[in-house]
Amino acid sequence: MVKILPSLLASDFTKLGQDIKKMEAAGADLFHLDIMDGQFVPNISYGLPVVEAISEVASLPLDVHLMTNDPGQFIDEFNRMGVSMISFHIEATNHPHRLMQYIQERGMKAGIVLNPHTPVSSIHHLLQEIDYILIMTVNPGFGGQKFINDGVEKIKMLNTLRQENSYGYEIEVDGGINDETASICKEAGADLLVSGSHLFKSEDWKAAVSRMKG
Ligand code: DX5
Ligand code: ZN
Repeated sequence: MVKILPSLLASDFTKLGQDIKKMEAAGADLFHLDIMDGQFVPNISYGLPVVEAISEVASLPLDVHLMTNDPGQFIDEFNRMGVSMISFHIEATNHPHRLMQYIQERGMKAGIVLNPHTPVSSIHHLLQEIDYILIMTVNPGFGGQKFINDGVEKIKMLNTLRQENSYGYEIEVDGGINDETASICKEAGADLLVSGSHLFKSEDWKAAVSRMKG
């Protein structure tokens, strides 16, 4: 069954701890943490002290999405905070294979993120060893944007490639996920769905999570 990852960027930061508990009670599977540096993307979200606070409150595993120019910088800190998964954008580093290994050697899952313009072929030589691929279905930097359909082809392509080659990676999708786009992505082969504004704006979080799981 597909896993649902609320993006805490869409939570009410004045009630972050309460939102985390409420989302856990609603049946979410992991939390998605968007780290933005104001350089790789035109926005700044939150940093290490907030991730630490989240890690102290949350019982669910944490998935860190690094939208930063120097994604290798704080891996040890995230590891110390008990983060389970870390993904970085392929454009953000000259040494994606080394960074993938660095994350994996510390017992965390490593993921590569593909922007809407970035082809699957750009990570061909990482597919065998990577733990997950995060397909962006919006341009990174902001919540609440419209789903870009092109990502669906990439999900299908990655799903076919793993079947043909027995690769072990999971496929995560991020951006503009609502009931309708969630079912399109599931159909295409996605395993993990990130949802920010749609989920947090829903009246009944539990019902919204189960609708997206389908
Ligand atoms: C965008 C972030 C997303 C975002 C998703 O840069 O990576 O995780 O929070 O938000 P929605 O679901 O509102 O598109
Ligand atoms: Zn994200």
